[in-house]
Amino acid sequence: MSSNAPIGVFDSGVGGLSVLGEIRALLPNESLLYVADSGHVPYGEKSPEFIRQRCGLIAEHLLAQGAKALVLACNTATAAGVAELRERYPMLPIIGMEPAVKPAAAATRSGVVGVLATTGTLKSAKFAALLDRFASDVRVITQPCPGLVECIEAGELDTPATAALLQGFVRPLLDEGCDTLILGCTHYPFIKPLLRRLLPESVSLIDTGAAVARHLQRLLGERDLLAQGPAQAARFWSSATPAAMQAVLPQLWGETAQVAQI
Ligand code: DGL
Repeated sequence: MSSNAPIGVFDSGVGGLSVLGEIRALLPNESLLYVADSGHVPYGEKSPEFIRQRCGLIAEHLLAQGAKALVLACNTATAAGVAELRERYPMLPIIGMEPAVKPAAAATRSGVVGVLATTGTLKSAKFAALLDRFASDVRVITQPCPGLVECIEAGELDTPATAALLQGFVRPLLDEGCDTLILGCTHYPFIKPLLRRLLPESVSLIDTGAAVARHLQRLLGERDLLAQGPAQAARFWSSATPAAMQAVLPQLWGETAQVAQI
């Protein structure tokens, strides 16, 4: 496998662009491929079997494009599907992501940590194991956020409707004394500015995009797979209408680009 081969990244939709942005910032020599499965968003309300099937099909597409590594830029898809992908492609570097429970448990001063994530992530065995491992000394309050991913897919990052929905999700966490809030879904970093306005300054927000990029850098480095560059322009696919993704790319990716149908 050539080190200049691209990295394949995917999510249920455009949320994983928050992770893709961290990868671009840390690894500017890498060529990037991105699949938004927006035709099937939200994964958070789908069965693990359905998500595993989608992960398999998207991984096949990215590998057919020559990907040297895969990043599941989606907490929900990781919980449902990363184990099966690793089994299927044992030689391939595959990076998943999970809510940042460990750093949040270390950071909280009030002892109360909130987790905003999808219903699928919060119900998963992987998340239960994460709490058992790292959260025995703190109180963790989980909050599923149905409807929020759809607002972000539509580029409604700071509308009165998104603010009202979000307010309803964070209010119970604040009432319980949460001072550390985990963004356990890759769509949510895009509403950080809105969240910051709704939360007292004393509440810290933790997400994992930058840590995932560093983990990817380490894994590629260990295997001599870091690209020398120059990077090719990032390529995008969507399983919904490509025009819809094209319309939100300037906002979420900072550039315009062509989007192909998958
Ligand atoms: N972006 C995804 C995550 O990190 C899932 C959003 C969804 O499709 O429900 O969990």
